[in-house]
Amino acid sequence: MEVVIVPDAKAGGELIAGAVAELLSRKPDALLGVATGSTPLPIYEALTAKVTAGAVDASRARVCQLDEYVGLPAGHPESYRSVVLREVVEPLGLGVDSFMGPDGSSDDVLGACEAYDRALGEAGGVDLQILGIGTDGHIGFNEPCSSLASRTRIKTLTDQTRVDNARFFDGDISQVPRHVITQGIGTILEARHLVLLATGEGKAEAVAQTVEGPVAAVVPASALQLHRHATVVVDEAAASGLK
Ligand code: F6R
Repeated sequence: MEVVIVPDAKAGGELIAGAVAELLSRKPDALLGVATGSTPLPIYEALTAKVTAGAVDASRARVCQLDEYVGLPAGHPESYRSVVLREVVEPLGLGVDSFMGPDGSSDDVLGACEAYDRALGEAGGVDLQILGIGTDGHIGFNEPCSSLASRTRIKTLTDQTRVDNARFFDGDISQVPRHVITQGIGTILEARHLVLLATGEGKAEAVAQTVEGPVAAVVPASALQLHRHATVVVDEAAASGLK
């Protein structure tokens, strides 16, 4: 695992957008795994700026979701499908057919999980997976004590994560779904390059446990220590718990 400390979130976004640009120059149809939430937005903004400036050709890029809420109606603005379309797919000028994600509104959620896990493999696997981290150390929505070998499946969000995410639902925790579909930790570890961005002091403890603690299911992000090509990019505030 490599750890890169940058001055701020914007610099982290620039750095990771540069890694994506380099990947696309080598492999124009690379499959890019995207996290949602606030943290990765500077990455998507920096990448969009590069594409708009003609510095990167992303026209053949493919994009896939990391996770999805269960039960939000199709087209809900905070479904992760809507967020990824709005923040990544449309700004990069990609078509909907270059984008894949689990179906959180399916009547057969278990089937949707299995189908998505299989589809990722059939697509050739994720080339670069962008990750954020929860204050409790989750990646995707693999909450503490998720199996490190887990596959894409349905999970129940912790109260802490629902509190953290209420800001996307007018601050009303009752609107935050209780269940999600998430790529499992075993699924995530199959991506060829994992890049985790963490910014702000609120992530310092989770980052310290991820980087310097033991590999343990209680800190799902610590599984990155098992990966042969994992990069953790942190701003100075998120790095403040590192020894
Ligand atoms: C969402 C996801 C989550 C978030 C995490 C941090 O797709 O993968 O693991 O990355 O909850 O969210 P923010 O960035 O909003 O603090």
